[in-house]
Amino acid sequence: MQKSKVDVILGIQWGDEGKGKIVDVLAPGYDIVARFQGGPNAGHTIKFGGMTHVLHTIPSGIFHEGKMNVIGNGVLIDACIVCDEIANLRKVGVEARDRMKISDKANLILPTHRLMDAALEQKKGSRKIGSTVKGIGPAYTDKVARCGLRMGDILEPSFPEKYEALKADHLQALRNLGFDVESARIDGKALAEYERAWMDGIAELRSFDILPTEFYLNQALAEGKTVLAEGAQGSLLDVDFGSYPFVTSSSTVTAGVCVGLGIPPSAIGKVYGVFKAYCTRVGSGPFPTELHDATGEELRANGHEFGATTGRPRRTGWLDLPALRYTLMINGITDLVVMKADVMDGFDTVKVAVSYMLDGKKMEHYPSAEQAERVVPEYRELPGWKTSVCEARSYEELPAAFRSYLDFICQETGSQVKVVSVGPDREETIIRSL
Ligand code: IMP
Repeated sequence: MQKSKVDVILGIQWGDEGKGKIVDVLAPGYDIVARFQGGPNAGHTIKFGGMTHVLHTIPSGIFHEGKMNVIGNGVLIDACIVCDEIANLRKVGVEARDRMKISDKANLILPTHRLMDAALEQKKGSRKIGSTVKGIGPAYTDKVARCGLRMGDILEPSFPEKYEALKADHLQALRNLGFDVESARIDGKALAEYERAWMDGIAELRSFDILPTEFYLNQALAEGKTVLAEGAQGSLLDVDFGSYPFVTSSSTVTAGVCVGLGIPPSAIGKVYGVFKAYCTRVGSGPFPTELHDATGEELRANGHEFGATTGRPRRTGWLDLPALRYTLMINGITDLVVMKADVMDGFDTVKVAVSYMLDGKKMEHYPSAEQAERVVPEYRELPGWKTSVCEARSYEELPAAFRSYLDFICQETGSQVKVVSVGPDREETIIRSL
């Protein structure tokens, strides 16, 4: 029986909400930080001491001495990318090997998964998902097709043989798709070159603590240790509840924590829902409150809305309350965390979508992906705060108009704002004692 709980941090929009910063800020209050899904499609940015760090696979608790970090069974690992992260951490004096455990059941992204991702996107033409092309879809496909390779496999003598067999299947599939493997590049490298770096990465990973982390985590909970589960992407990109097929291939919602870490639902404690004061989306798919005007440009420029993983410009739009109500319901959010309100500091007024109309009727439920392409949002226009929120270090110091804006969100969602981020740095965070 657990003596303590797993608290969860999730993005409740389309990803890029700023989860990494919040995990880093809250990590000191926990013993263990664990990633449970996704892979290097994520880009979690953390700023402190005048430096910026971007993590893709490694949990955002890694910068805190004395904390353990777990890459859970639900996560996908690209040996090249994770080893780049490990090397970057080493440069700033953090030895990931001492602070991290990796599940033996986490699946591997092979170099040929990356090519498969590119080939499948190419084939989709104008219906492409806008994938980060990190091999996520093909690697999860192999996982559920029961032919993937897992971290535990790299410790077995049969690994080279299993690797070659899966690679041969991928190359055959690529030929069938008419994909030109010879001229393809993976992060600027030809397949053979990327593969060499990947194998070096596998060799390095063998020296890490690879174990059935479900035992480690459940034991820790039984001993009263606290765990913070770190989500990647966002609920609106969830493979079931997102705008399918324009989604990622994992369960980004609270339920994903149980299967992605091997912990029971009864162990879930608080669920923090992280959202930006406006919306962004990278890649294709419906975005009801999207702005195609100067205000959208202003949000992109002020918010530096360019992907941490791909550098792509993000689509921008107003805050969408029907979407938030939906993701609050699916996830059982207990506390809201609002990010990047400072981006709208100069705005005279701020709009918020409060409901959707479809074919002249108000929608009761959150729309399907097809309906979401056609809905017309109804907006409430609220006064802007017209002053910088960055200096505030307590809730009371925040401008009154901004607090009214937060009150409106709480009232409309039936939830409470626990954390307000007023800038990118660790220090620029207000945690309310509610
Ligand atoms: P994939 O997960 O790389 O296959 O991408 C599927 C969709 O999810 C695309 O629209 C991506 O832009 C989006 N996506 C994947 N990871 C992230 C993320 O960490 N932040 C924001 N969007 C993401």
